[in-house]
Amino acid sequence: MKMNIAVLPGDGIGPEIIDVALNVTKAICEKFNHELSYEFGICGATAIDKVGNPYPEETHELCMKSDAVLFGAVGDPKFDNDPTAKVRPEQGLLAMRKRLGLYANIRPVETFESLLYKSPLRAELVKGANFMCIRELTGGMYFGRPQGRSEDGDTAYDTCVYSREEITRIVTLAYEYAMKRRKKVTIVDKANVLATSRLWREVSKEIAPNYPEVETEFMFVDNAAMRIIQWPTAFDVMVTENMFGDILTDEASVITGSMGLLPSASIGTYTSVFEPIHGSWPQAAGQNIANPLATVLSAAMMLEYAFNLKEEAALIRKAVDASMDQNVRTQDIQVEGEKPFSTSEVGEWLVAYIKKN
Ligand code: IPM
Ligand code: MN
Repeated sequence: MKMNIAVLPGDGIGPEIIDVALNVTKAICEKFNHELSYEFGICGATAIDKVGNPYPEETHELCMKSDAVLFGAVGDPKFDNDPTAKVRPEQGLLAMRKRLGLYANIRPVETFESLLYKSPLRAELVKGANFMCIRELTGGMYFGRPQGRSEDGDTAYDTCVYSREEITRIVTLAYEYAMKRRKKVTIVDKANVLATSRLWREVSKEIAPNYPEVETEFMFVDNAAMRIIQWPTAFDVMVTENMFGDILTDEASVITGSMGLLPSASIGTYTSVFEPIHGSWPQAAGQNIANPLATVLSAAMMLEYAFNLKEEAALIRKAVDASMDQNVRTQDIQVEGEKPFSTSEVGEWLVAYIKKN
């Protein structure tokens, strides 16, 4: 197979973890005889510094002509506390989502047995939790207009907007995934208060009968926030709007104790983007200490979702599991008394494992 990918390392630890994920992808392609071509693009703070735009036109064109995008992380603290900053790295991310039509952000929440002790929840509660959050990514309050201030500056407003079409495509996607999993969909909303949520329910109730094997559950977002920590094993596929999804996916991602390990996919109209769920950790940039596994697992998701290469993705996951079993771990997950490995050492170990197995 011929694969044509765009690689956007971004800021902070982005370049280091992307380097590992790219080497792992190359090793897989060599082993399975796929032809990989890739091209780098700039984004985030790095792109602001270079060209004054966190998602430059050139990067957009690169993404548009690629089959998939492998993304590191964006963000730099120098923008966070600067109220005069006209452009921020995060705006690049939002522009990318909108312009690539990345309407579905998929975050699998998986437990790794050996990391359960790191969970903020008791191990017996999270053990076996395995669900998928699907967050709508190009609508809702993030993009709704009007947004702004009144003339005197003393009133501010955001607008939550959803169309039938936007709801239909994301809810349908959720049912499709549920069909391949344990056949349960939880639709999270605030239908007791919001008009957009009531439309979500209405549309979802029209779609549900097309999937008679799938159990449908409606849940208010406040209740969902509670149930994620109370009974995480009860979920299979959870689907929700942009802002609720932003909040719930952060919550969901930490309960397994494996935050540094979780990948994500953003599925789109024109292409798909694969990235770790963690941020750019600027304090660690250049130190070769960051955990590359979430990005490596994002590359596995890319092979599976964008190219339908299941065996290849499975081998990456097997290599990741093996590295943890043999304590080839970066400092954040290394067991006490064992020497932590560097980012690049973990990468080299994974590549060697893939070549051998
Ligand atoms: C995320 C992030 C972004 C979001 C920020 C950086 C704009 O929190 O990807 O979840 O809110 O969507
Ligand atoms: Mn977020």
